Amino acid sequence: MRDVKVLVHREFGIGETDPRLFGAFVEHLGRCVYGGLYEPGHPTANNKGFRGDVLKLVKELGATIMRYPGGNFVSGYDWEDGVGPVEKRPKRLDLAWLSTDTNEFGTNEFVDWCREANVEPMLAVNLGTRDGDAARRLVEYCNFPSGTALSDLRREHGWEKPHDIKFWCLGNEMDGPWQMETKTAVEYGRKATEAAKMMKWVDPTLELAACGSSSRSMDTYGEWERVVLEHTFEHVEYISLHTYLNNYADDTPSFLASPDLMDTFIEEVVAIADAVAAKKRSSKRIMLSFDEWNVWYRTRRRSDGNRTVPGWPVAPHILEEVYDMQDALAFGGACISLLNHADRVKCACLAQLVNAIAPIMTDEGGAAWRQTIFFPFADMANLGRGEVLRAKVDSPGYSTRYYDPRDHADNYFPMDNVPYLKFSAVHDAKGGHVTLFALNRHLSETMPLQVDLKGFAGITLEKAHQLHNGDLKAVNTAKSPDTVKPTDLHSVKIDGDKLTATLAPASWSVIRLAAKPA
Ligand code: AHR
Repeated sequence: MRDVKVLVHREFGIGETDPRLFGAFVEHLGRCVYGGLYEPGHPTANNKGFRGDVLKLVKELGATIMRYPGGNFVSGYDWEDGVGPVEKRPKRLDLAWLSTDTNEFGTNEFVDWCREANVEPMLAVNLGTRDGDAARRLVEYCNFPSGTALSDLRREHGWEKPHDIKFWCLGNEMDGPWQMETKTAVEYGRKATEAAKMMKWVDPTLELAACGSSSRSMDTYGEWERVVLEHTFEHVEYISLHTYLNNYADDTPSFLASPDLMDTFIEEVVAIADAVAAKKRSSKRIMLSFDEWNVWYRTRRRSDGNRTVPGWPVAPHILEEVYDMQDALAFGGACISLLNHADRVKCACLAQLVNAIAPIMTDEGGAAWRQTIFFPFADMANLGRGEVLRAKVDSPGYSTRYYDPRDHADNYFPMDNVPYLKFSAVHDAKGGHVTLFALNRHLSETMPLQVDLKGFAGITLEKAHQLHNGDLKAVNTAKSPDTVKPTDLHSVKIDGDKLTATLAPASWSVIRLAAKPA
């Protein structure tokens, strides 16, 4: 491949990465909660039943904010079932995942778990089968200090201090026919507005996210965002986006190109949000909460419904996607897409955290291990703090068609001139670092990379590593947890403010530099 050239300048920034960009998601789904983060009796569990091995990996992953309790689950959830004495909590049918929920784990346990994991809790309210009244009661239960029936109920339940939960999602994927009590944009817009008003009357410090489209492939996409924001604009700070990248077509080049459609998706939603602002003559800017994103296709719902396990099991083994090397590459591309929109994407949640489409897997009573996608996320979350710099990328490209079925019908997105290099540079001025994230999407050719870092002097290499495996189908399992893992990248050379490196075909690379202003 010819030289691939990148130009960045210290003074030309896109925006600061908000710590909430590095969030994840815990849903009552399969073994995410039960047998994932919560497993009393596990050798590493603490006195609250939280698995210590999982907590350790969550800290290593670097996740910052955690969305809970759904997802599709939340649209049928009665939060009252999950608080109070555990022995009195009801078992319920969960229509989202055709399971039984014991309600052993609920809001208070989740908040405790977040404190142990050192992450910010983020709650979604049920705007499917419930409404603004249930939502404002939950806010009062969680955040009101004391002296009212609901705040005193929390205290009676053993949580004296308010939880002080700031970030709330107004329902989940309310445009999707798979959702309990799907809505039209007008129905949802009105319901979300009324819920938001009451929730903020209880606690004016809340930050609220309205539901955007479940994906860019929805027939209602675009119009949904416009109508929802026209209703909710004055009452919310964020609109949500969800994307699951797929390789249904077994077409690796298109799969690796697909994160570029996340760029498009983000830019389109920004345009719609700003158009609504313009119509309202408002200087307010709605920020984006990309509160579900990942690779997911092998274990995805099909037209025959979700029932892959018979009956109404508790914590079934569902959505246990085993991620391979190429998934990690597409996933890394998605990380770069999020970083490069740090000016408007102020929150994002990897869906999900443990066992169900997750970077962390567990065996009941046994080990916990890192899936391939763990590594790009940990790189982004731990090293992607600071100001993202604008990067001019001069790379050869390729054309392809990305297959993304819509309502189980064939649907292709043509993509032209997809650059082989997907790239982001993040400058941490306080810490004196620049970190480069680079995805080489060429499957067979090494990439000679040249990066011109204008405005920096005295650049030195701190560390560099890559994720690469000649077998794109390589996976990590309980028995071989280290098949895919980062290794040192030795090819980085620095001369003044210029850097060169040779990137392996189909690889994810991270280069951490110490850098002072020129
Ligand atoms: O993350 C899995 C599911 O995907 C969520 O429950 C839902 O919101 C989305 O469709």
